[in-house]
Amino acid sequence: MFSVKTFIGIFLSVFLISGCGSEKNKPEFKPNSPEAKGYDIFTRMACNACHSTDGSLKLGPTIKGQFGKEIRHTDGSIRMIDEEYIRESINEPLKFIAEGFTPIMPSYKPILKEQDIAHVIAYIKALQ
Ligand code: HEC
Repeated sequence: MFSVKTFIGIFLSVFLISGCGSEKNKPEFKPNSPEAKGYDIFTRMACNACHSTDGSLKLGPTIKGQFGKEIRHTDGSIRMIDEEYIRESINEPLKFIAEGFTPIMPSYKPILKEQDIAHVIAYIKALQ
């Protein structure tokens, strides 16, 4: 297992490498819509340090056009990326590891409330 220090280290370095989460590709959502709130959380929580929103590869899989797609895990299982899967990935990121990626995503369970996660899901859904 990683120590908290390692996590913070990885977190900070990807944050710095990614230029503190650039604002390009900011989508046009209605202010205060679930999608806009989800975008806000995604940026504030630095999810975009590891997940691109334009299809490019970062430390984690892109979130663009992923909703409804199937994803293969290192244990050979295949899951569809739906609301339940995204919720699970945020709360328990190490339960299933997407094939080809290193398991470095921290759990956001203590940080994100159910409502926040619902907004993030709405945002990911909108990025088709
Ligand atoms: C330190 C890098 C890092 C950060 C920060 C991070 N993730 Fe991840 N995430 C990953 C990696 C690597 C994977 C793929 C490995 C795995 O399945 O755990 C992943 C997997 C996922 C998946 C599953 C997608 C798939 O294709 O299987 C979702 C959804 C996700 N992350 C959402 C988020 C959200 C939302 C945040 C912010 C609240 C976030 N991530 C922050 C690295 C990160």
